[in-house]
Amino acid sequence: MTRTLICNGRIITAVDDYRADILIDSGRIRAIGENLPIDDAEVTRIDASGLYVLPGGVDCHTHLENTFGESTTADDFISGTRAAAFGGTTTIVDFAFQNHDTGVMAAIEAACLRAEGKAAIDYGFHLITTHVDDQSLEDMKHAIRHGGVSSFKMFMAYPGKVMVDDAQIFRAMRLVGEHGGVITLHAENGIVIEQLIREALAQGNTSPRYHALTRPSIMEGEATHRGIRLAELAQAPVYFVHLSAQEALAQVVEARDRGIPVFAETCPHYLFFDDSVYDSDDFDVARYVMSPPLRSRQTQSDLWRALKFDDLQVIATDHCPYCMKEGHLGRIRQKPFGRDDFSKIPNGAPGIEARMTVIHDGGVRAGLISLNRFVELTATAPAKIFGLFPRKGTIAVGSDADLVLFDPLARHVISAEHHHSDCDYNLFEGREVQGKVQKVFLRGELIVDGEQWRGRPGSGQFLRRGETVGF
Ligand code: URP
Ligand code: ZN
Ligand code: ZN
Repeated sequence: MTRTLICNGRIITAVDDYRADILIDSGRIRAIGENLPIDDAEVTRIDASGLYVLPGGVDCHTHLENTFGESTTADDFISGTRAAAFGGTTTIVDFAFQNHDTGVMAAIEAACLRAEGKAAIDYGFHLITTHVDDQSLEDMKHAIRHGGVSSFKMFMAYPGKVMVDDAQIFRAMRLVGEHGGVITLHAENGIVIEQLIREALAQGNTSPRYHALTRPSIMEGEATHRGIRLAELAQAPVYFVHLSAQEALAQVVEARDRGIPVFAETCPHYLFFDDSVYDSDDFDVARYVMSPPLRSRQTQSDLWRALKFDDLQVIATDHCPYCMKEGHLGRIRQKPFGRDDFSKIPNGAPGIEARMTVIHDGGVRAGLISLNRFVELTATAPAKIFGLFPRKGTIAVGSDADLVLFDPLARHVISAEHHHSDCDYNLFEGREVQGKVQKVFLRGELIVDGEQWRGRPGSGQFLRRGETVGF
């Protein structure tokens, strides 16, 4: 592999901000310094004057080619990782599914098969655990030690589908915590929500807006409180995915203030959209059908403030795309599957490509978070929490040369017409942003060069993740 020298860039990590050259050799960062004495004949020189040099983004919550119920997400590992790369993300953590009759290791192998030969960026998996017994606990231990999977997602929602009860969560937390892993929770009170859904449908309220009306924020707060108490009893860390509600945030803040190892992510859609989109009976509202749903405008400010002061640690996308048009690129059972019954609309929204640019524009440029905090939230903290640091998530000698050259001044308009996902809509359609990814390197290989795609399906590697660090 050739050596590459990235010159004159402004290197930004979670803690640094300085100008220097970066020498990449054999896929890793070999040296960082001013005017590195390198013979020109030996290297490919890239001029990064005027650009930020950021660590490749780490998106620890994506759903590529994931099947929930009857619907499969619209991006597979080819289109999804290509879109991620154009957005400055070089690592994702997606999901493996353990059903009642699937062993843990078989679930990880099946997930690897979905990605192999397709992924153009590096990837790992959380395991979705839908059933806990003595055998699955043994298997989870094995997955942490030998399978490269150290985090497990459990659902407090969707009864009869993937929901687990409190005893199962507690048992898994105790085991996983003891072995250096972490349980991640989808915190909504599924039983009460199911009752509200039944009542809404019985009253003939079938349009997509009732998705939001039947998933009140107080039920996210309740489940978050319960999840924290279970983790406390189990003496284990816990990570809340897609935190959206003020009531949930208050629980996380209270627990962290008491020194309990509680972590939480929020997602770009909760930071830029609010529940006013649900003020219509139009089916177009289905594009905002995700769980939890969008919350009040006031909650957006609460979430930004929490991101700034480390009450929230991560911004991940929960990229879970379903098309608005049935049959788009051959995708079936997409959003229109629930045209006559909101409870059948596949839950989720796209966002994998827009994350870095919208957070830079709406967060850093708007003065809500610093540039260092932007890197921490989108790369460093998820790498630490999910056992990928310091290989991923920072710019340091020895780390993988996953680098993003980012032009902080370039302006562009986000649109599904130009994005690289196979989803037929973009949540940020028409939004003008300042700041654009110019070049992306994955382990030293240039995979995005302006508008040109130079990545290859299959060049992404499965990441065997280690223990949770950073607390
Ligand atoms: O609506 C969502 N978030 N769909 C994806 C599955 C999940 O719960 O993360
Ligand atoms: Zn979830
Ligand atoms: Zn998700």
